[in-house]
Amino acid sequence: MKTYIIGNWKMNFTVGESSLFLNKLLQKVHAYRDIEVVVSPSLMAIQSLSLQTDRRKIKLCAQNCYHRDFGAYTGEVSVTQLRALVDYVIVGHSERRYIFNESDKDIRSKVSAIIRNGLTPILCVGETESERTFGETADVLRDQVLGGLSEVSAEDISKVIIAYEPVWAISGHDKAARVASPLDVQDAFKLIRSVLKETYGKTTAEETALLFGGSVKSTNAESYLLLDDCNGLLIGGASLIAPEFTDIIEIAKRVKDANA
Ligand code: PGA
Repeated sequence: MKTYIIGNWKMNFTVGESSLFLNKLLQKVHAYRDIEVVVSPSLMAIQSLSLQTDRRKIKLCAQNCYHRDFGAYTGEVSVTQLRALVDYVIVGHSERRYIFNESDKDIRSKVSAIIRNGLTPILCVGETESERTFGETADVLRDQVLGGLSEVSAEDISKVIIAYEPVWAISGHDKAARVASPLDVQDAFKLIRSVLKETYGKTTAEETALLFGGSVKSTNAESYLLLDDCNGLLIGGASLIAPEFTDIIEIAKRVKDANA
């Protein structure tokens, strides 16, 4: 399986800045066959960046979508509209769950729409600080994984990427965000993998890529990439700094080569 290095730019960069930044990355990033580099710009910039990017080096991802393919849904963007422009769509990011009140029902409809339109969903799951404190991590992860995937057939599950992003480790809003230990991440991956195995069977479950996200930087990326179950990283803040992002890609390549 490839290693995924995915940058989530969130609501940063104007269209012009996005283009300059992508250009900078394209000059630095190598096209490695076993490393999939993806960036997720603002919806505003996706159309122009899709013409600018070299997809062998950097693919594009949308940060959100609506689950209907077309119709009277003011302000929304469908996967049908995105499908010629991006290869991936993030769904269920904690900022969407907690700031925009998205439910597992919304999320599962989006996952289905993404698969129906031939794109790859990156389903984010993760517990909050208080859920962790109250010992609810396993239940929350189980509910979010099963809730997000309940319309996905065994045939389609290998098309889904799951990102474990503990809310307490995401740097954007929580200035006191903590760094997750590789052990915490390993435990969560084991749990997610076991939920997938119960639902879809062992072999199928192993084909689903698991990513980690939450305060990932070039200084800690390797510690997560070395975990057995880790198939890549979803990076917020550090993906807005070109040398950080490109360093993480090189680290991923080193880890991949060492394990080859
Ligand atoms: P962060 O964000 O790397 O800035 O913590 C990760 C994410 O929200 O995907």
